[in-house]
Amino acid sequence: MRRSLVVGNWKMNGSKATAVSLLTGLKARLAELNAVDVCVCPPFLYLSDANAQLADSAIRFGAQDVSGNGQDNGAYTGEVSAAMLSDAGCEFAIVGHSERREYFAESADLLAKKVECLLAEKITPILCVGEKLDDRESGLEQQIVEGQLHEIVDRLGVQVFSQMVVAYEPVWAIGTGKTATPEQAQQMHAFIRGVVSKLDPVIADKLPLLYGGSVKPDNAKDLFAMQDIDGALVGGACLDVDSFSLIIKAKESV
Ligand code: PGA
Repeated sequence: MRRSLVVGNWKMNGSKATAVSLLTGLKARLAELNAVDVCVCPPFLYLSDANAQLADSAIRFGAQDVSGNGQDNGAYTGEVSAAMLSDAGCEFAIVGHSERREYFAESADLLAKKVECLLAEKITPILCVGEKLDDRESGLEQQIVEGQLHEIVDRLGVQVFSQMVVAYEPVWAIGTGKTATPEQAQQMHAFIRGVVSKLDPVIADKLPLLYGGSVKPDNAKDLFAMQDIDGALVGGACLDVDSFSLIIKAKESV
């Protein structure tokens, strides 16, 4: 049985005041978490608030990114190391979100280094993969996603997938209100599991696969009903206590 996981990606939103109110609101609403693991990923600056507010809660927290420049301190202005994230209490970190691939031109080598740095600190990388609209319209979606998985596997070996989470986020569904249908999402999740399974079926079977892209309370249940969808990576809807809680409850109820 794979554990279920719902992750909230706050992106670059909020203030100290809204961060604290969101964290305290979630803690109150999600006092009893049984079947689902929950993680929130605030901006770096509010990780210490997450650490303080969630200290006596089952809600876990993580970062939206990490430096790929090694684990030691060093002259990398603006970077935050995996060791610092660990120090701050992070258990997860998102790697290779499409917004970072697109706006910060993150290369495959850099993504693999980020994964390596996180694993060295026992932080679980949440690797994002997903095709753009053009790719899907050209029927290339599986080829693109397979390539993104191989960027990591070819550099670090399939073993790293035993310590990771993969999030399938079709770029055309992120922040657009246009969700993949449960069937489209399931098809890609099964494909991803199949790609990993060719290399190691045991690792593939245990690999948590999250769907991301306009997940909302009203579409979550149908997505979660799919066999290979183990949870969600939620953007916009995670900024609202009610919406995020309802998505988590939808996962608990399937
Ligand atoms: P969204 O974002 O839920 O706002 O579409 C998802 C994500 O980018 O992780």
